[in-house]
Amino acid sequence: MLVLGIESSCDETGVALYDTDRGLRAQALHSQVAMHEQYGGVVPELASRDHIRRVLPLTDRVLRDAGARRGDVNAIAYTAGPGLIGALLVGASVATAAAWALGVPAIGIHHLEGHLLSPLLSSDPPDFPFVALLVSGGHTQLLEVTGIGRYRLLGDTLDDAAGEAFDKSAKLLGLGYPGGPAIARLADSGDPRRFALPRPMLRSGNLEFSFSGLKTAVATQVQRAQRDEVPNTAQDPQFRADLAAAVQAAIVEVLVAKSLSALKTTGHLTLVVAGGVSANRLLREQFAHAETKLGIRVCFPEPELCTDNGAMIAFAGALRLSAGLPAPDQRVRPRWPLEELTPDG
Ligand code: KG4
Ligand code: ZN
Repeated sequence: MLVLGIESSCDETGVALYDTDRGLRAQALHSQVAMHEQYGGVVPELASRDHIRRVLPLTDRVLRDAGARRGDVNAIAYTAGPGLIGALLVGASVATAAAWALGVPAIGIHHLEGHLLSPLLSSDPPDFPFVALLVSGGHTQLLEVTGIGRYRLLGDTLDDAAGEAFDKSAKLLGLGYPGGPAIARLADSGDPRRFALPRPMLRSGNLEFSFSGLKTAVATQVQRAQRDEVPNTAQDPQFRADLAAAVQAAIVEVLVAKSLSALKTTGHLTLVVAGGVSANRLLREQFAHAETKLGIRVCFPEPELCTDNGAMIAFAGALRLSAGLPAPDQRVRPRWPLEELTPDG
């Protein structure tokens, strides 16, 4: 079965073709980062218009790269939510119209389910059950995953997501958007011990997160530096690198500690980490330490599949169709709790 996947929930148009016999056949991605950068974040209307421009040329390219024709496609999966309503509508309209024209099913996929299942695209996929740490721009969640479409929420963020903490701290440091990769790059030349930033909820005794205090702590350090009038402090490369390293260390420490607690609580030995922040190198290194020390397994998506892409949507669609799981109705949903996918969830 050949499943075409279309992702358009935010600032990336992703298209891919997944073959249930031969794996991922082709994928193409257009990132809008350069377009939104000058505004310091995603401008929803510009995002929708750009998705309209990109989605069909990307689809043609994917089919060409895979050596497939439109008529070979057996189903079309698209991101139905959560995300920006206008952006979601572009992918959903194109997918449902094309599916209708081809006489094949269209299947709306939950964006976070796409992220969550993306590590299963690797050559050595993990088995169910496992704990998943989902760390994207808007979500930081721990889930118990017992099968496709069976997700139990273990912990969530009370305010900002980890990705948001990266993005907001980057803004305070005058770095570009998206902030995660920018902070990570700068942190490479920084000393994380120079600033003692808080580890929010580290000892809360539950699996909840809270990252908004971290942004306040970064703002305080930047203001203090400006107030003290240390010459050019806020521009001083070492100040900025040290603060970036401290932010990254604080976020990573909390994510790792809470994920290990979730494994302990559930008794599972496998952790899957997915979403944009899973690209973070320090996070991967810290989990690698935990793997050797604790005899657990930690699985990540391939690096190019950490951030938004069409492959994870095509793949989730293929898994759902193969498992005979019902497609949700064809509404797009800007807000959509992942647990709602679980029967009786
Ligand atoms: O999953 P994603 O691409 O989009 C959403 O579904 O939100 O995640 C984007 C988030 C952004 O907050 C971005 O700053 C963060 O992932 N991110 C990173 C890295 N690469 C992307 N955060 C830390 N380190 C990275 N290397
Ligand atoms: Zn995403």
